[in-house]
Formats: sequence, structure tokens, C-alpha cells
Amino acid sequence: MEGKAGTCLLLHAVPGVEADRVLLVGLGREREFREKEYRTALGTAVRQLNETGGFDGTIYLTELPVKKRDVAWRVRQAAMIAQDSLYRFDRLKSKKDEVRRPLRKLTFCVSRRNELAPAELALAQGLAMAAGVELAKDLGNLPGNFCTPSYLASQAGELAKAHGMTVDVLDRADMEKLGMNTLLSVARGSHEPPKFIVLRHVGGTTDAKPIVLVGKGITFDSGGISLKPGPEMDEMKFDMCGAASVLGTLKAVALMKLPLNIIGVIPATENMPGGGATKPGDVITSMSGQTVEILNTDAEGRLILCDALTYVERFDPDCVVDIATLTGACVIALGHITTGLLANNDAVARDLLDAGNEAHDRAWQLPLFDDYQEQLKSNFADMANIGGRPAGTITAACFLSRFAEKFAWAHLDIAGTAWRSGKDKGATGRPVPLLSHFLIERAQRAGRKPARRKAG
Ligand code: BES
Ligand code: MN
Ligand code: ZN
Repeated sequence: MEGKAGTCLLLHAVPGVEADRVLLVGLGREREFREKEYRTALGTAVRQLNETGGFDGTIYLTELPVKKRDVAWRVRQAAMIAQDSLYRFDRLKSKKDEVRRPLRKLTFCVSRRNELAPAELALAQGLAMAAGVELAKDLGNLPGNFCTPSYLASQAGELAKAHGMTVDVLDRADMEKLGMNTLLSVARGSHEPPKFIVLRHVGGTTDAKPIVLVGKGITFDSGGISLKPGPEMDEMKFDMCGAASVLGTLKAVALMKLPLNIIGVIPATENMPGGGATKPGDVITSMSGQTVEILNTDAEGRLILCDALTYVERFDPDCVVDIATLTGACVIALGHITTGLLANNDAVARDLLDAGNEAHDRAWQLPLFDDYQEQLKSNFADMANIGGRPAGTITAACFLSRFAEKFAWAHLDIAGTAWRSGKDKGATGRPVPLLSHFLIERAQRAGRKPARRKAG
């Protein structure tokens, strides 16, 4: 064995070793061993172990030094990578290609006794986040004929029941009363009833302002009357991955029992070209009172998010983060590696970027300069719902920013990162790790604050 990164060699009955089998894992050059190599080595090892027919395995890779990362990071990542690499979605296959004797138990080793406590906390966090990622993947992968707005609402209900959260689901009539017309304008072309889901985790004190997560829940995006082209249109079942990431993050948060008040909000609908569908040129009055000329019915994400942003004003939020598969332009700008981030508040933006780095679920900030707002000018309404070809991700965020003036707000465009295309087609569960880390950090800060005040 040469030891190249990503390779491994399984040995049987090694003399003097009690284990039945020993798996050697190539790590590449020591000098070049970093975060990425660590993650690859773990993924390879776990997949191999799963195929050896052993019920359990012990992993020593968690003892390896990774530049600038402590034992907690290594264990947290190991738990997430292990679950991630064993994930499959076969509930819709009539014959499951099952592993004969799948891996049931993994043990992670640490080198020193004093690493045990931080490693155990990290393990619990890693498993919680992995469970959140798994939920987000399952919901994302489930096709549009199963994963409807009503299905998302029922899943939110299940989550609430299992973890002591509360849930409210508004239906079309409720939304009409609230004046959520831009959201409803997207739902008009579909036979599936739209749902507006509000899920709350109450872990903080009653006076603590909530952190609000808003997830785009388009369970299928055909483009509406501005119909999308045929190839790859199936992938628009993933257009609810923002919503899935909100549910996944709330699951992780509940499992970690984070002492924060968190509200997940999901506007959910299909975008279809039925006879009642909104037409290009139609002008709609949003819940905020601002009017929108709909020049392209395929720019529907912002139309459901803007009413959701207006709705969440009532919570007097600490901050609001929306998560959306919003623009194809973001895939062009950042590819499938990095999530787009735009914000009206530098502190929130910085914390999200830091959380992404910590979780290895990274984002990059794009500017939200006022100068871009001009592209949204309309001759017939307060604004158009599209800003033309240049800077499509930014003008989409500019649109949202007009509905987020009353609070600290950030927007994550996950169009490139929420799923993979091609032979490994499937949801990634991103950005559940980023959001979870963001909230873990906020919880720690909330815990530190009173102590600091006392000392000061
Ligand atoms: N859900 C899409 C964005 C998308 C497209 C995500 C491809 C991932 C891959 C969104 O609703 C959309 O259609 N956006 C339009 C906006 C345009 C009409 C201004 C787009 O990006 O083409
Ligand atoms: Mn669209
Ligand atoms: Zn969409």
C-alpha cells in the first residue's frame, strides 16, 4: 500500500492484533494533511467498514492532528461524516440493495483522558447535526408528488410532537386574511393548497428575542407561465431545500436542547402554470403594502419570502436568516462549493461566515450596495420581481432587503449547494451544519453574557 489519500487496505487476522480485521487508510503526505484530507479519510474509512461485514469498528483517525482544529472539531466532524457517508435514500425502491451486515456501532478514539469530556459533548453535537442533515436530505430527495406543502406541514407537526416544539400551520384562507398576496400569487397556478408553517423551539428565557429562520418551500418549481426548459426540470423538486434546512436545523437544535428561542417559518407552495396562474405583467400588492410587477413568474422564491419576512416582524426578532434555492446566477458565481450570503447587518453576516468555516459548510458574502436597487425599477408598480441578467443573486437579495428593513437580516442563497446533480444526484443537507453552528455559538454567547455583566 502506498498510502495515497483516499485509498485503503483491509487486512485479515493480523498476528498479535485482537481485532478480526484491520483497515489501513491512506492519508497522503503528512505535510499536506489538512481539514479536507481528514474528511476524505474518514468518509473512505467508514464506507469501507460498512462493507466488511463487521458489526462494529473503532476509528483512530480522530486522534490525528488537524491544523488549527481541536479534538472537539475532529469528533464532531467524524460523527457527521460517518452518518453522511452511510446515508441512502431507497424508500421508493421496491427492492432495496441492502448491505448484508451493515455497520451498527462505531467507536472514536481520543489520545488523552482530558479530551474525553469535550469529545463527548462534540459527539452529541455531531450526532444531533447529523440527524438534522439526514432529515433535510430525506425531505429534499422526496419527489414533489410526495413532498407537497401539506406534507411539509405534517412533517413540522411530527417534529413538534417528538421534540416538544409548537407548530402553527396557516392555510390559504388565513393567508388571504393577512394579505399575503405575493405568496398566494405563486400558488394560483397549482392544485396543491399552499401552507405557511411556523415552528417554535422555546429553549430560552421568555424575554429573549427569537432568532427566526425562514426557508423557501417551493415543493416544485416549474417556472409557472414563464415555464422552465425541460432538461433537468426534475431537479426543481429540490426547490424546498431551504425549508428542509429549517426543519433539519430545528431538529438538531432540539436534540442539543439549545437554550435559545428559535422560530422556523416556511412559506410552502408549488409554482405551476395552471389556468389561474399569475401572468407576466400582473401587479400584486404584497403583505407589506408594497406593489410588485411580476415580469417573470419563475422568480417566485422572492415572492413567497417577501410576505414571510413581513410576517415575522411580529416576533420582534433578534435576527432573521432566510435560506433559499433562489437564483441560478448563484450557481454561476460560486458553483456547488460555496453558499451565497447577503445581509443588511455585518455582525450577523460575520457570525454566519464563521459558522460556515467551523462547520466546513462554507458561505461567501456578496455586496448589497444600494446602487443595485435601481435594477428593480418598474414603470407600473413599486418594484419589478426581476433585475435583469447582471448580478442576479444580488438583485434577488435587493428585492428581499426591501421587506427586511425592520430587523437584522441575512440571506443564504443555496441554489448551488443544496443538492448534487449527475450520477450522485441528491440533497446534501446543507446548510444545516452552518446554521447549527451559528446557533451553538449564539447559545454560548447568551450563556456567557450574564456572567460578564456581573464581572463588569
Ligand atoms: N429555484 C430557482 C433557482 C434555481 C435555478 C436554483 C437553477 C437552482 C438551479 C428560482 O426560482 C428561479 O427560477 N430563479 C430564476 C430567477 C430569474 C427568473 C430572475 C433564475 O435563477 O433563473
Ligand atoms: Mn423559479
Ligand atoms: Zn424557485
